[in-house]
Amino acid sequence: MKLTPKAAMLAAIEEGKKGSGFVSPNPLVGCVILDRDYNFLAKGYHARLGELHAETHALKSVTDTSRLKGAHMYVTLEPCAHEGRQPSCAKTLATLPLKSVTYGLPDPNPKVSGRGVEILRAAGLEVVRFAELQNELEELAEIFLMNMREGRPFVSVKVASSLDGQVALADGSSQWITSEASRGHVQSLRGFHDAVLTGAGTFHGDNPRLNSRDSRFADKRLPVILLDPDGSCVAALPGSALLQVRPAADVFLVTKPGVKVLSGVTHIELSMRDGEFDLRALVSLLPAYGVHSVFVEAGATTVSAFLRQRLCDRLYVFMAPKILGKGLGWTSALQIPSLEQAVRLENLRVEPLGEDFLFTGRTIFSTRTLPKSLG
Ligand SMILES: NC(=O)c1ccc[n+]([C@@H]2O[C@H](COP(=O)([O-])OP(=O)(O)OC[C@H]3O[C@@H](n4cnc5c(N)ncnc54)[C@H](OP(=O)(O)O)[C@@H]3O)[C@@H](O)[C@H]2O)c1
Repeated sequence: MKLTPKAAMLAAIEEGKKGSGFVSPNPLVGCVILDRDYNFLAKGYHARLGELHAETHALKSVTDTSRLKGAHMYVTLEPCAHEGRQPSCAKTLATLPLKSVTYGLPDPNPKVSGRGVEILRAAGLEVVRFAELQNELEELAEIFLMNMREGRPFVSVKVASSLDGQVALADGSSQWITSEASRGHVQSLRGFHDAVLTGAGTFHGDNPRLNSRDSRFADKRLPVILLDPDGSCVAALPGSALLQVRPAADVFLVTKPGVKVLSGVTHIELSMRDGEFDLRALVSLLPAYGVHSVFVEAGATTVSAFLRQRLCDRLYVFMAPKILGKGLGWTSALQIPSLEQAVRLENLRVEPLGEDFLFTGRTIFSTRTLPKSLG
């Protein structure tokens, strides 16, 4: 089957997604190879940290290697120049009789950016930066790009709400607002991240497990970060659902300095600023624990704190066709002083999920600071 360059790059993006949740701190990368006449030849992706990169994964499935002569490779990220857990892809490709390599995004790591391209050009290959699909390519690699560009974990915030923006009734009941299809999708989203974060309110109210029941992630370690400034969760933790499904060390309890916690849990002591945690200071500590992406699944207090502190890179709002009236609105602890300071979503996608809709997009904040509290 013949493919256009755009169809090949789109297929490479779809391939790359298959590694979601398994490659951290590496990027998701996909690759498609077309023969000299642009017929589909092979595809591959980076499936797991330490395993083959997308380019070599695709090359492995080419049985008739004579068809690589004059072939065209489409890869979502510039081929790597350096030796790590795997040999340099650019050096491997330089030994092959390919005609061209088209890559989606340059490697953002300043130490390697452009060097992969140089190696390929020096070997006589045509190297092209793909001009289209930049939003899709950025989205595929968004966790890695944030890690590289800002040196901090990527933060996703999830909300399950009614049509009128409520995440719970006035009495706190919230199970379940959204449909089974939405909740199934959330199980996968948890698995796509390195850790789930919640607040003390959700811990006390819901006794959640916050693991992923998506079978792909049955063996994946998924720590929970629990914001518990005064240690109000400590007494209930031993019998909690959180500890039934993960070892104690994978509960990261975040408290003010000096709070006594359960032995075995990972204790992160953090000073408060104006009565709340500085969430940027918190996430900057997480890479040391192997956490490069965080999935925030909490109540209005925590979700509002992340928005107020402008620490939300992607928002997932699951909206059910229900009206719940005055309950707990997910932005009830957030005040925006002017319309210019509204938080906006860019590259918004709306997907039907059962009877619900999922709204997801990159979060854009105004440059002005939002007020800390409603007073
Ligand atoms: N529909 C949904 O998507 C969804 C998801 C999760 C939860 N919920 C519902 O939401 C309700 C709970 O909401 P909530 O707002 O009460 O609780 P929450 O956001 O889960 O947790 C709030 C608590 O977390 C701590 N916290 C959060 N951010 C902090 C910060 N920046 N600095 C310091 N501490 C911080 C505080 O603990 P202290 O209280 O110790 O100060 C705060 O009271 C429950 O009814 C639950 O069912 C709904």
